[in-house]
Amino acid sequence: MDLRVLLIGDIVGKPGREVLKRTLGDFVRRREVHFVLANGENVAQGSGITPNLFKEIAREGLDVVTMGDHTWRRKEALPLLEAEERLIRPMNYPPECVGRGMGIYSTPLGVRIAVIQLLGRIFMDPVDCPFHTIDKALKNLDPSIKLILVEIHAEATSEKIAMGWKLDGRVSCVFGTHTHVPTADERVLPKGTAYITDLGMTGPYDSVIGRDKKSVLYKFETSMHAPFHVAQGDPRLCGALVTLNTQTGKATHIERVQLT
Ligand SMILES: [Fe+2]
Ligand SMILES: [Fe+2]
Repeated sequence: MDLRVLLIGDIVGKPGREVLKRTLGDFVRRREVHFVLANGENVAQGSGITPNLFKEIAREGLDVVTMGDHTWRRKEALPLLEAEERLIRPMNYPPECVGRGMGIYSTPLGVRIAVIQLLGRIFMDPVDCPFHTIDKALKNLDPSIKLILVEIHAEATSEKIAMGWKLDGRVSCVFGTHTHVPTADERVLPKGTAYITDLGMTGPYDSVIGRDKKSVLYKFETSMHAPFHVAQGDPRLCGALVTLNTQTGKATHIERVQLT
């Protein structure tokens, strides 16, 4: 059987939450989507997540919400990360950190799906090696679980592409988040893993990666600090739709999604 999974890029602030509300339900019905994942590291005014905002986006039909380098931005998120099984943060943080780096979920087709998130290390704060972390995680995973999604939340395209090749044939899909810019390199790799370097953001595209373009330009030009507010204009939902074979766990199709 074919399982259709929608992967949604970083939801940024209120414009991101609003475009999610306006577009997701219709798309899920029209394309018969079985499982929805969204990155939620930017839902709270562009940085982090709160329990109320988690509820607000989850009730739109999200099966799992992932975080990223903004995981610890809001103190209110800590008890949520501890208790909420539908919330995932990068697995390669130190073992003392609250929350989980992997979740296993049931799907409407009766098969289970594993979701793992990793953080990159190029141009980012130091964390454990994502490549060794995923090897260990896959070794310990219940072998009856064939459907595996791996999110690589990272800045450098090279690090994400390397992760895609490393995991080709070992997981169902490797997808990137964090840059907020969608890439046009979606494909199914030779051994059956769907891959895309970045899903792009779900938020205002009349901006610099979600923030007010005047303040960002001011900072670049003067190097003086200006508060970066979430922008408003041209909200879009960006992500990818992936088709997975439930028997083999391999991907048969990936396409970019952009909804306005
Ligand atoms: Fe990020
Ligand atoms: Fe982000």
